[in-house]
Amino acid sequence: MNNITFHTEYRKINENIPLISPLGWGMWRYRGSDIEKSRTIAETALESGINLFDTADVYGPDNGEAFGAAEALFGRVLKTAPGLRDRIVLATKGGIIPGIPYASRADHLVRAAEASLARLGTDVIDLYQVHRPDLLAHPAEVAAALDRLQQDGKIKAAGVSNHTPSQVAALQAHLPFKLTSIQPELSACAVGALFDGVLDQAMERGLTVLAWSPLAGGRLLGADNDARTRAVITELDRIALANNVGRAAVAYAWILAHPSRPIPLIGSQTQSRIREATDAFKVHLTDTNWYAVLKAALGTPLP
Ligand SMILES: NC(=O)c1ccc[n+]([C@@H]2O[C@H](COP(=O)([O-])OP(=O)(O)OC[C@H]3O[C@@H](n4cnc5c(N)ncnc54)[C@H](OP(=O)(O)O)[C@@H]3O)[C@@H](O)[C@H]2O)c1
Repeated sequence: MNNITFHTEYRKINENIPLISPLGWGMWRYRGSDIEKSRTIAETALESGINLFDTADVYGPDNGEAFGAAEALFGRVLKTAPGLRDRIVLATKGGIIPGIPYASRADHLVRAAEASLARLGTDVIDLYQVHRPDLLAHPAEVAAALDRLQQDGKIKAAGVSNHTPSQVAALQAHLPFKLTSIQPELSACAVGALFDGVLDQAMERGLTVLAWSPLAGGRLLGADNDARTRAVITELDRIALANNVGRAAVAYAWILAHPSRPIPLIGSQTQSRIREATDAFKVHLTDTNWYAVLKAALGTPLP
């Protein structure tokens, strides 16, 4: 019964950007017009030791707001909080236009990044990610756009999200610099990346893994669930009880335990829950109970 060790230190993921925290904070659900409240939430993440902030141009419509709303809100927050920009590593994404839906052709990607810069009110994006693969954009064209953005000093590093390993390889083949990160869905409910080569490729190539929806979008904390999710919750709660932490902390710890060292993107917009996320590092996880959660997630015994 091996005990799993977590890496709590900040890490270098790219020579051009500052060290990043082992947890990230996601801004998909960042919304509203209360600047003070929005600033307090962002500062809570930072005070909790989280300096990686992940947003996207397309965050807004899912909250009943306009395209670009989450970036624009954060841009207004940054204006009122001198110094905040320099204390965070700012990641955003482009390449989805609601209705098209994917748009990563060179001109679009360059324009999208420039529009993100304007909304965020910043000179440079630390990590710019292609949100989803545009099947009609040749990887050489996507690579040319990312290269142009980096050469023009508009982005410091580039990554992708929701790409298969072969899509990553095709893009990398045309890029004159190394991709920094990938962003797959990963949680105790969504375990596909463990088996489809995404995490293996990250370890092979040294890509940083940003895990989206680490609580399955809140489903792992909800009551109204299917049998498979309930089985996962039973295993998480067993570990939570033994460690005197909440279920969310165990769900994050389960992700952190993978050897590709994924960074869970905490999606909560509630101060107390953002603070509690760091309880993940207190969890004593063994190989045995990690596999018990996986078994519950798969719904079948492991061979
Ligand atoms: N690349 C992509 O395609 C993609 C897709 C989806 C998400 N993402 C990224 O991943 C980030 C996280 O996604 P997500 O928001 O779905 O993450 P999540 O952490 O799986 O879910 C967050 C949701 O769970 C709720 N929740 C309920 N109980 C909670 C508890 N005890 N602790 C924490 N949260 C609790 C939160 O509510 P409260 O806010 O009320 O606390 C929030 O609505 C996004 O912000 C975005 O950066 C990327």
